[in-house]
Amino acid sequence: MMFRTLISALFFLCSNSLHGLAQPAGCPLPPHPNPAIHRTRPRPPLYPPGLHLMPRRNKTDPGPLSNRARILFITKELKRNITYDPQNYTCTWVGNNYCLFKGFFCDTVPDLNITGLARITFTGARFGGTFLNFYRFIRNLPDIAIFHANSNNFSGPINKNLKQLRYLYELDLSNNKFLGQFPAFILGATNLTFVDLRFNTYAGIVPRRLFDLDTNVLFVNNNGFNQTIPATLGNTPALYLTLANNNFTGEIPHSIGQAWNTLLEVLFLNNRLSGCLPYEIGYLQKARVFDVGGNLLTGPIPQSFGCLFKMELLNLAHNQFYGTIPESLCGLKNGYNFSLSYNFFTEVGPLCRKLISKARLDVRKNCISGLREQKSAAECNRFFTTQRRSCPRESTFSIVPCKIGTTSNSLEEEEDEVFPTIDEMTPPSPVTYSALTKPHH
Ligand SMILES: *[C@@H]1O[C@H](CO)[C@@H](O)[C@H](O)[C@H]1NC(C)=O
Ligand SMILES: *[C@@H]1O[C@H](CO)[C@@H](O)[C@H](O)[C@H]1NC(C)=O
Ligand SMILES: *[C@@H]1O[C@H](CO)[C@@H](O)[C@H](O)[C@H]1NC(C)=O
Ligand SMILES: *[C@@H]1O[C@H](CO)[C@@H](O)[C@H](O)[C@H]1NC(C)=O
Ligand SMILES: *[C@@H]1O[C@H](CO)[C@@H](O)[C@H](O)[C@H]1NC(C)=O
Ligand SMILES: *[C@@H]1O[C@H](CO)[C@@H](O)[C@H](O)[C@H]1NC(C)=O
Ligand SMILES: *[C@@H]1O[C@H](CO)[C@@H](O)[C@H](O)[C@H]1NC(C)=O
Ligand SMILES: *[C@@H]1O[C@H](CO)[C@@H](O)[C@H](O)[C@H]1NC(C)=O
Ligand SMILES: *[C@@H]1O[C@H](CO)[C@@H](O)[C@H](O)[C@H]1NC(C)=O
Repeated sequence: MMFRTLISALFFLCSNSLHGLAQPAGCPLPPHPNPAIHRTRPRPPLYPPGLHLMPRRNKTDPGPLSNRARILFITKELKRNITYDPQNYTCTWVGNNYCLFKGFFCDTVPDLNITGLARITFTGARFGGTFLNFYRFIRNLPDIAIFHANSNNFSGPINKNLKQLRYLYELDLSNNKFLGQFPAFILGATNLTFVDLRFNTYAGIVPRRLFDLDTNVLFVNNNGFNQTIPATLGNTPALYLTLANNNFTGEIPHSIGQAWNTLLEVLFLNNRLSGCLPYEIGYLQKARVFDVGGNLLTGPIPQSFGCLFKMELLNLAHNQFYGTIPESLCGLKNGYNFSLSYNFFTEVGPLCRKLISKARLDVRKNCISGLREQKSAAECNRFFTTQRRSCPRESTFSIVPCKIGTTSNSLEEEEDEVFPTIDEMTPPSPVTYSALTKPHH
């Protein structure tokens, strides 16, 4: 059930073409109308999956409509405020049946046996206007479950009472015009499973309680958050977490290890994170993507990284890491692309050399003697004599919280099929990296 939600959510993340409604008179037809596609498919979960749903009603004859006057009133107001509508949404917003408006989707409200507005999909509508007041609009949609408004010009403060939206479980406000502090009132909507605030200009802190929400997806990348990451990070049950391209400072919280049973992909890249990697990262037994590239992190790689058995894409590039690259890291069978370039590592063992020769481990621009494309001796010396900082909790760097089956001895005997080159492997298909691409506005 979790995955159904996720798939629908990620579909809308990438999709901006939802048509299918008749154009009312006076509404310009699209230049190349699509032929009608008739197919039966399972009922998508407009309301949170798991809720008991009554049979869906005919869209053209939906019976009594929940909160009709209120929804029509606020939609008229929004329509007046939209001065740019390149996809011709608002010209369909006529008449009394809001189920027929482009971008509006109805369903039977679970507790009412009456048709309600369950989903708004304005993804890619590119609405413009001086003030498209998101909060004022949504708070007048009491039955809303899914609100996707990627790439529009919504803005304005988000006030309290969002929690009155008792069904709201997916909120995508990415690539809009929100600014200021993190909209803490969205935390009142405690049933949110999908929160996407990327590509706005929020700054300041991310509240501790964000990580207590029962989310699958949490995207806050590409804002201006510039404080430390709350110590509650590890409370998140999210599978996909992106904090990339902000100005987060301080350390990666030790609590991250608490997400061991859920976290699949996490992106911290391009922030101003400092300090050393907590060994607790090694508990993330399900993680496939871990990216801290482009920060100010230092210290060695904890030996616990040899426990990241599912790791496919590991990026530690462009930091100030040093020490020996753990051989157990290079023995991870699922490793596809491990980038440790632009650091100050000094040693690699035979397994890691093998991975380098298969183009699966990148150690360019380090301080490893005998390898090509390393930093100059002067730069390495300068770092080790004046800039190198040691780590607190030094003894934790040798903790290995798992059983590492293979020793380098036995592996050296194994044939090359155990060590395919990067081109011989199936490339991973990470979910989070696509969240870093700005949708064109
Ligand atoms: C919207 O309507 C205008 C005419 O008013 C038309 O030129 C344009 O192609 C339409 N755009 C879409 C995406 O249908
Ligand atoms: C829905 O209602 C319209 C108008 O009342 C009717 O023409 C149409 O056949 C109905 N469709 C279904 C699937 O019942
Ligand atoms: C829901 O409403 C319809 C008529 O709109 C009625 O036929 C049906 O019996 C109702 N279902 C329940 C469970 O009340
Ligand atoms: C979108 O909002 C920005 C300000 O936040 C404004 O400068 C811009 O003109 C708006 N775009 C449109 C199409 O109204
Ligand atoms: C529409 O614009 C007015 C004037 O700026 C603003 O007060 C109102 O909140 C806006 N409403 C919506 C739904 O955008
Ligand atoms: C969350 O959903 C449950 C039903 O699944 C509901 O009982 C609860 O009131 C909702 N939470 C909020 C804050 O509305
Ligand atoms: C991070 O901070 C620097 C300097 O304080 C600033 O130039 C940069 O724009 C900020 N980045 C983001 C994503 O806000
Ligand atoms: C964080 O960003 C805000 C807005 O850009 C700025 O006013 C504030 O000084 C920044 N704080 C830090 C600690 O950089
Ligand atoms: C490997 O990962 C690094 C860092 O994310 C990236 O820059 C590079 O393009 C990737 N290489 C391949 C072959 O995918």
